[in-house]
Amino acid sequence: MAIERLPGLVDAHVHLREPGYEHKEDFYTGTAAALAGGVTTVLDMPNTNPPTSTPERLAEKARLAQAKAVCDVGLFVGATRTEGDAYLPAAHRACGLKIYVNDTFGSLRIDTLDLLHRLFRTWAERAAQIGYRSPENPHGLGPVAVHAEELMVPACLALSQLYDVPLHVVHVSRRSEIETIRRAKERGVQVTCEATPHHLFLSMEDLPRLGSLGDMRPRLATPDDVAALWEHLAAIDIFATDHAPHTLAEKGLQGQPVESPPPGVPGVETMLPLLLTAVHAGRLTLEDVVQRCVTAPRRIYGLPEQPDTVVEVDVDAHYTLENQAMHTRVGWTPFAGMPVYGRVQRVILRGRTVYEEGRVLAEPGSGRVLFQPT
Ligand code: DOR
Ligand code: ZN
Ligand code: ZN
Repeated sequence: MAIERLPGLVDAHVHLREPGYEHKEDFYTGTAAALAGGVTTVLDMPNTNPPTSTPERLAEKARLAQAKAVCDVGLFVGATRTEGDAYLPAAHRACGLKIYVNDTFGSLRIDTLDLLHRLFRTWAERAAQIGYRSPENPHGLGPVAVHAEELMVPACLALSQLYDVPLHVVHVSRRSEIETIRRAKERGVQVTCEATPHHLFLSMEDLPRLGSLGDMRPRLATPDDVAALWEHLAAIDIFATDHAPHTLAEKGLQGQPVESPPPGVPGVETMLPLLLTAVHAGRLTLEDVVQRCVTAPRRIYGLPEQPDTVVEVDVDAHYTLENQAMHTRVGWTPFAGMPVYGRVQRVILRGRTVYEEGRVLAEPGSGRVLFQPT
């Protein structure tokens, strides 16, 4: 048994569903699942109901998170067609701005160039007013994170350059996208990106087996797209899960059949074993993992360090991922049945044991909500 001691991981892309969809997940179940995966900081997306699109809603979401979270939580604000950039007065209390440029779960898609211009421009103006976030992040605000697929990738790259805003492209899944981003980086453009475990370890060839449990946005891609992500690993700044739980009933797998199940799959508690399995196979180094799950997300989002925080992993433990072992409220994983190496044994957050051998020990509310007034 070989024990590795890792820093607490950051999952820079999760949907904890509160408020509005607590039957899928809430701040307790979602952060408990995070601890089980060795993740001690999560960044939560704004496509809740109501969406996190105004200062009041951000403050309300921070209250909800503070009451229940067992790990640290940063909150994104989101742009909407109807409210535009109403979040701006509270932008410094968010980890970043999320813009949906393509269709997905929720109603946050921005579909006019006119509004996109405004959103990039006002984020840049607000960042200049604030001027400073942290020693690691000299920008006054977090980046603009975009759900942008295919042609929307160069469109967002152009806008971010026009307004001099740091751009982060979430869940890159296609060869064309990662090659565009790599080339932009070579030209000195201020862009970062992330890839999810499902786009690295699954492809559309898994769809017949997975059915609606393999449906998410971006969709599972071709084996060549998957190969491109691995080929261009150097251009992938962050591994993040896009943890997006929906119930088995909503996926049409319990009770009545469902005509169009919502896209999205949980992932926050399976990322580390999947990555450690790639380390075991020699496809990644442990350094690659720590770089992309700790160092880079902290730098890109200006996240505070967590002192006395350690994740103890038995890197030789060999077992099969199972639905029953999951802490997420929805109780399933698209990786069920997959043999993996690496089991989280213990998580210590700020000196306290918060997770041990499958059990969450932290009290609800013991996590911190980042960037809030004290
Ligand atoms: O598959 C997805 N599900 N992609 C997204 O971008 C949103 C997410 C969700 O919130 O369910
Ligand atoms: Zn997305
Ligand atoms: Zn997402």
